[in-house]
Amino acid sequence: MSGTYELGTGQRAGAMSESQLLDTQRAFDSVAADYDGPRGNNELIQRMRLTLWDTVCKALPPGSRLLDLGCGTGIDAVEFAMRDYQVVASDWSPRMIERTHDRAAAAGVEAQVEAVHVGVHQLGRLKGEFDGIYSNFGPLNCAPDLGAVAAECARLLRPGGKLVFSVIGRICPWEVGYYLMKGRFKRARVRAARGATAVGMNRHTIWTHYYLPREFYRAFAPHFALDDYRALSLFMPPPYLVEFYRRHRKGCERLGRLDDRLGARPLLRDMGDHFLITMHRR
Ligand SMILES: C[S@@+](CC[C@H](N)C(=O)[O-])C[C@H]1O[C@@H](n2cnc3c(N)ncnc32)[C@H](O)[C@@H]1O
Repeated sequence: MSGTYELGTGQRAGAMSESQLLDTQRAFDSVAADYDGPRGNNELIQRMRLTLWDTVCKALPPGSRLLDLGCGTGIDAVEFAMRDYQVVASDWSPRMIERTHDRAAAAGVEAQVEAVHVGVHQLGRLKGEFDGIYSNFGPLNCAPDLGAVAAECARLLRPGGKLVFSVIGRICPWEVGYYLMKGRFKRARVRAARGATAVGMNRHTIWTHYYLPREFYRAFAPHFALDDYRALSLFMPPPYLVEFYRRHRKGCERLGRLDDRLGARPLLRDMGDHFLITMHRR
């Protein structure tokens, strides 16, 4: 999401309150109408999206029942529905849920996509059993209590079921270099903050936790075994540098191939704009 979020301000860090959850909800409501444009789905975002799609499809056969946490406008949910998965698509932003509902109807897959206004901090409201749970581009960075999310995922997932999450990482060398060069020192170190950190988007605030993969996994370890994790957009610039990518497309594509080849290697996999982590329920 820092990819999709703009302007980290790093104003303050701490535990996430009800009013912070509402700030985040307002921020995403405010961009829902045009979130499929450059802000939410440019070429660099789409490239990372494909990695999650491939990972989910390799982990679970068509026909599986999936839960999408923080579905946004429903791009992933509708894609999986068109590939014959059943998806419950959840989000904390009611405007995003409307977009998901409309997208599923426009694609003729409303029977396979159920869009529900449920935050990741409200998963206790969901019933049923899923084969897989995925979350793309950092909704879990907005969760007030990751351990509680992990416990709910364990309740909702069948034994052996899969989790596939893309999460905003702590160490993004592109971001540090870019903002240091611009003299924006506070912005350059926003991902170093502990606890909930204010990140600006569209003159609203998204309250975000940044994680190293091992910090993130710690919350899930009581219920889930780690399968794998890899960096997303470590060599490739992060999505908000899409204009740079467009000016240097050939060179950046080479960097993208480096991501594909080296992104799962030890140490490198701990960096990147996002990381993709897969686990299974014990
Ligand atoms: C960067 S967008 C990603 C959307 C979508 N997964 C995608 O790939 O385009 C982050 C999404 O997380 C949602 N979100 C933020 N906080 C949330 C929360 N506490 N519970 C559920 N969703 C949340 C936002 O409303 C937004 O739709």
